Amino acid sequence: MNTMKTTDTAVSPTHMKVDALLAKMSLEEKIGQLAQISGAEFMPGPPAEETVRKMGAGSMLWLNNTQRFNELQKVAIEESPSGIPILFALDVIHGYRTIFPVPLALASSWDPNVAEQAQAIAAKEARAAGIHWTFGPMIDIARDARWGRIVEGAGEDPYLGSAMAAAQVRGFQGDDLADPEHVLACAKHFAGYGAADGGRDYDPVFLSEAQLRNVYLPPFQAAVDAGVATFMSAYMDLNNVPATSNRWLLRDVLREEWGFDGFIVSDAFGVGNLVIQGHARDGQEAALRALKAGLNMDMASSTYLGNLANLVQDGSLTVDEIDEMVRPILTLKFQMGLFENPYVDETLLDQVVARPEHRQAARLAAQRSMVLLRNEGNLLPLAKTLTNVAVIGPLADSMQATEGSWMVFGHQPAAVTVLQGVRAKLADGAVSYAPGPDINRDFPHPFGEFNLSERKPLQSPEDAEAAFHMAVATAQAADLVIMVMGENADMAGEFASRGSLNLPGRQEELLKAVHAMGKPVVLVLLNGRPLSISWAAANIPAILEAWEPGSEGGNAVADILFGDANPGGKLPVCFPRHGSHAPLYYARTLTHQPEHSPMYRSRYWDSPTTPLYPFGFGLSYTTFAIPDLQL
Ligand code: GLC
Repeated sequence: MNTMKTTDTAVSPTHMKVDALLAKMSLEEKIGQLAQISGAEFMPGPPAEETVRKMGAGSMLWLNNTQRFNELQKVAIEESPSGIPILFALDVIHGYRTIFPVPLALASSWDPNVAEQAQAIAAKEARAAGIHWTFGPMIDIARDARWGRIVEGAGEDPYLGSAMAAAQVRGFQGDDLADPEHVLACAKHFAGYGAADGGRDYDPVFLSEAQLRNVYLPPFQAAVDAGVATFMSAYMDLNNVPATSNRWLLRDVLREEWGFDGFIVSDAFGVGNLVIQGHARDGQEAALRALKAGLNMDMASSTYLGNLANLVQDGSLTVDEIDEMVRPILTLKFQMGLFENPYVDETLLDQVVARPEHRQAARLAAQRSMVLLRNEGNLLPLAKTLTNVAVIGPLADSMQATEGSWMVFGHQPAAVTVLQGVRAKLADGAVSYAPGPDINRDFPHPFGEFNLSERKPLQSPEDAEAAFHMAVATAQAADLVIMVMGENADMAGEFASRGSLNLPGRQEELLKAVHAMGKPVVLVLLNGRPLSISWAAANIPAILEAWEPGSEGGNAVADILFGDANPGGKLPVCFPRHGSHAPLYYARTLTHQPEHSPMYRSRYWDSPTTPLYPFGFGLSYTTFAIPDLQL
């Protein structure tokens, strides 16, 4: 069922309002509705008020300030030519103020209700802040763990991915777009982004129609069937044609075949980028190609703003073609009730965020998303009577790594860390801590100023060495050691692909040094992608994959380590033994020579090609017996 479907004969009251509004709008105003302008202070260009006052704006993004939303909305309503409200949009990917586990973790619960509830709470908080539209769910299938954005999706499988896509759309949008506790969802990035060559973010994608139809498109169709209001076209070239101006994707498949009648926004600067990608000589041709392909809204590049009027004047485009793109944008604004209620109560957010059920839901979702990978000798669950436990590792007390990648612009991390969660379970003084050496990207994250990486000064080699020895000494003095390792929040997500899947920095070296002491060691992983932890998998008795678990992550990890919650998560993506094995996934066609047959055993002669941990893997504390099974 698509929210926007109207019967062919009867024109709905909303559509009559839209037509009446269109009839009185100037061409310039119509073009204004096709523009999503940046609200970010750091962006060059005229102040937002100027554009809004002159021609209105379809939408604004990268602003996260409730008071400012109202100020700009007032300009749109009272000073722009037709008083059309602005749609304020932001990336609320896994929580606004209460942070939920990253989507790859939510998928590990294999429970769409967990994902739906998480996004419903995210929507309540985001809407209370004045945000109308989130750029989520991200539903790109990913089978290459080197690709950093694997963290934002639901893994390798189209069936699970489709279920999680539909659940998140329901969570964000609810079943009535006029409900003021919901936001518009946005199925992204259409399509095939997760198959970037070499797992390198933004690199070209080459997929056969069979791969598209069987693997990469189904979650997007599931989102349409769930009534998703908007789509976002992907950055990259799909089979040599940028998704931004890919008529086959945006018109033939999405609208003609699937009946989608919401609207499509480009990814950031996507329309202007067509020139850089060599698909348009200049902005004018870029705007023409994108609009002809069916792209409604230009995110932040101002290419539509700067060129569409000329294209209409020179006859390349007709006003009808402009109207066709504007119509669904106005329709959604009417359906959301924005004309009647354009402003937000600036006292609402704190009340909504304070609801206890939000943090409770975040803790439960984190428990449900964690995957127990190893538990030799039933080392877990641990006793709460332990009196001398060391918590070691660079992520043990990192709020950033606990909340994870793709945080809302301007959000200050406030997670309960694993160290705090473990301390809360044991008697005072029972827990010691040492971080060991820092871990950092070799190439800093370009979005660093959005506190996507913990902006600590780089550690000197001497300090790193001292930290290493301090961690060893701390572990030495303890009866049991909990190692908290993995990736920083800026090591997964956008612009965070990597060539290897090993534990970054000296983490494995530290792990081996602690293991050599011969005492019980538990490894807790905080990471946004599968990791090649072959040595740990063979030597560390207990391993818990906690992903990036959100605001209550530390409590949820401790709940599982100490048996207050039973781990039940299952992997939504396989863990390759080496990054070079990617892409790796379970649903492969058969071959004439079944893999691992007695004769061959492996497709590579230098390593097994089986995953370290397969898709669907996950242990629990529960033992199962099926007595007297009769055939
Ligand atoms: C980014 C991402 C996209 C995001 C958009 C707006 O570059 O590719 O997922 O929604 O820009 O922030």
